[in-house]
Amino acid sequence: MCGIVGYSGKQNSSKIVLEGLKTLEYRGYDSWGIAVQDKNQIKIFKEIGEIKTKLSMLPLPKTSCAIGHTRWATHGGVTMTNAHPHISTTKDFILAQNGIVENYSTLKKMLEKKKYTFKTQTDTEVIVRLIEQQTKKDETFRDSVRKAFNMLEGRNTIIVLDSKEDNHIIAVKNGSPLALGIGKDELFLASDALAFTKYTKDVVFFDNLDLIEIKGNKFKIYDSKTGKEKKYKITKLNSKVEDISKGKYDHFMLKEILEQQDTILKAVNYKLDDLKPLIDIIKKAKRIYITGAGTAGFASGQIAYYLRTISNIDVLDVRPYDFASYFPILKKDDLIIAVSQSGETADTIEVLEYAKELGCTIASIINVEGSTIHRMSDLPYLIHAGPEICVASTKVFTSQCVFGYLLAKSMVGEYTGAREEVESLSSGLREYFTEKVFNHIKKLVRSIKNRNHFFILGKEQNSYIALEGALKIKEISYKHFEGFSAGELKHGVIALIEKGTPVFTIISDDMCSKDLLSATEEVRARGAYTVGVGDSKFRKEECFNFFLPVVKSKELSALSNVVVFQLLSYFLAFSLGNSVDKPRNLAKSVTVK
Ligand code: F6R
Repeated sequence: MCGIVGYSGKQNSSKIVLEGLKTLEYRGYDSWGIAVQDKNQIKIFKEIGEIKTKLSMLPLPKTSCAIGHTRWATHGGVTMTNAHPHISTTKDFILAQNGIVENYSTLKKMLEKKKYTFKTQTDTEVIVRLIEQQTKKDETFRDSVRKAFNMLEGRNTIIVLDSKEDNHIIAVKNGSPLALGIGKDELFLASDALAFTKYTKDVVFFDNLDLIEIKGNKFKIYDSKTGKEKKYKITKLNSKVEDISKGKYDHFMLKEILEQQDTILKAVNYKLDDLKPLIDIIKKAKRIYITGAGTAGFASGQIAYYLRTISNIDVLDVRPYDFASYFPILKKDDLIIAVSQSGETADTIEVLEYAKELGCTIASIINVEGSTIHRMSDLPYLIHAGPEICVASTKVFTSQCVFGYLLAKSMVGEYTGAREEVESLSSGLREYFTEKVFNHIKKLVRSIKNRNHFFILGKEQNSYIALEGALKIKEISYKHFEGFSAGELKHGVIALIEKGTPVFTIISDDMCSKDLLSATEEVRARGAYTVGVGDSKFRKEECFNFFLPVVKSKELSALSNVVVFQLLSYFLAFSLGNSVDKPRNLAKSVTVK
């Protein structure tokens, strides 16, 4: 959460930093700010909310060095005072942070006793004061930043712009991501390389506790604990410079939903030989865990379902934030499969750090090349969905699931059949995405948009789809949608059904369909407004007040179903006038715990 950008070079620094911040806005959009170095002075511009100010309106001079930050508030409300970057008392350096200083209140009390004062409610200002304190003792500014940083607890990455020396930036990485881009006579720093891949593909990814010092167009890396210089490796990124514009669409979300017809194909564009190392380790591992958070967690559950039902592989699906209770039984012969879009989710990384230390093998199904999880993995599998900009994840979910499906089918010698099934889903989606279908969904939206509580029933292959469908709608419509297995209904949830309560039933042509029809009858008998989502063969069933037919698919009908909830979520949020791509309180990359 939060995005950091820095630049030193021949171009207009505020232009590069502003562009970078726009790219990183998915990491938080409570406020943003840019600080430029201008003839040994620092000039700052900050704003609350999303980035609305255009470069031509930015009241900053053209200079060759700047830093910037886009905020997802942790400590301190969303105010101009709390917006980063934060300047030192003597105005000779300015700093921004991505992360949380866990011991900030102890440090603040210690500094207050020494008569340091604070203007903001942020934990970040504590780092500024700590550096100020150090500058009175240390020989170099680098040492002051380093020693102040070493007093911090938690996962935090900082960037500091120094006014006393031309084009001087220092950054330290711990936990939250940071990458350096090396251009011709220019250097870029950013929380995500996507912020500068338009200019360079030569990237240095950092280890935790690396300190990076930029002076002009030169840089050095140090170990922040010892202060000793370190060697580094330049990685050439493979991914194409991807289009990150909305194109003809009003929102990234709709664009990304429609892209699924292509992205699911890219996700399975692996040869059987590419999958072999993972298949071998799955066969050998004592125990297999799969983990991911939020939507990635539901993808983990769906992949575990495919491995269990298609290849008879026992995979334990555990959420990373609840993984600690498994640590005592984790063994070095175990395999952990991490599922993540960003590859930067703090909870997931913490599990992997523990497992790595123990010697477990780590595989991952991820979208972002060069991300922390990508680099930590022994067997990383990129799903190549391209940048997913809308905070609510759509195309990455289906891509991760089809990759899991391909893996499961390949394990039982059905690699080719799996590829064909995904191709058939892709062409089905191509035909499905029409105004006629959208209008049918919009018609339903009009009739339910004023209700506040909704339920989604699924079962077996559609259990996780019920959870993911509900999450998608909650995230951007802010309506209370609850998804659960239809089997749970009579064990409690049915008490919530009142006259008119909308209840969605996800129904595939499978062994659960009869149970789902009965469950729908039961809620209808209690006054629910019933909506069927699924195979068109059920559209005429009397228990449904409304029916949303999906793309026909033999084994991937769960994924056809989820697409309907994505569209429903989009049209509902749009009709409510909500911010579709940047829903309130959320950020795409959850890099703090
Ligand atoms: C929901 C959503 C989140 C993420 C979760 C994990 O639409 O996007 O629930 O799935 O924060 O993020 P990644 O996949 O980056 O690990």
